[in-house]
Amino acid sequence: MIIAVDGPTASGKGTLARKLAAHYGLPYLDTGLLYRAVGRQVFLDGGDPEDGGDALAATAFPDSLLGDPHLRTEETGGFASRVSVHPSVRKALYERQRKFAEQPGGAVLDGRDIGTVIAPDADVKLFVTASVEARAERRWKEMRENGLEVSLGDIADDIRQRDERDANRKDAPLRVAEGASVIDTTAMTREQALAAAIEAVEAARRA
Ligand code: DC
Repeated sequence: MIIAVDGPTASGKGTLARKLAAHYGLPYLDTGLLYRAVGRQVFLDGGDPEDGGDALAATAFPDSLLGDPHLRTEETGGFASRVSVHPSVRKALYERQRKFAEQPGGAVLDGRDIGTVIAPDADVKLFVTASVEARAERRWKEMRENGLEVSLGDIADDIRQRDERDANRKDAPLRVAEGASVIDTTAMTREQALAAAIEAVEAARRA
């Protein structure tokens, strides 16, 4: 069983996808991490994320970079969003994601284009979203817990900018895949979101 989980930044799709993978005993791939590694590598190379050549060169990042804690920062998220607009970068990361999705027992992948491009044949497609305000507040709380002083307004602005870039790029823009179940977690606890996701998986399996 392949489960595709897509959604905008800070929607909680990563946490949800990880829990689903544990629940069904499936391997899990956070595809955003691959784009984050490319973004980080461009930065380390002193390149320009808007430059397709620089971004493509950075797809040859070493595997060890995937364990770098810098990949989780907002700054790297912004770089990732910038490098991800280049079709050459998306193409370079395609095989790796496709292989992961095709392993015999199935897999859970989360990202922006899993249900539309990477695994359009997925057994289950989920689109996890929440209002900008709810996402900003969750991100803000998480950052404060990590000792980071940031303004809620700045985070909301950043989220809007990333939504705009991810949804309006020409190649594989963020959108709800055909046949996907939309889970809006604005008014849900994490437990409720997981329950809704499991329900959607079970419904798709019965169909
Ligand atoms: O999910 P995330 O915030 O870690 O993703 C970082 C950026 O990477 C996101 O803004 C757009 C890009 N991305 C993508 O284009 N396609 C994916 N499947 C996953 C991420």
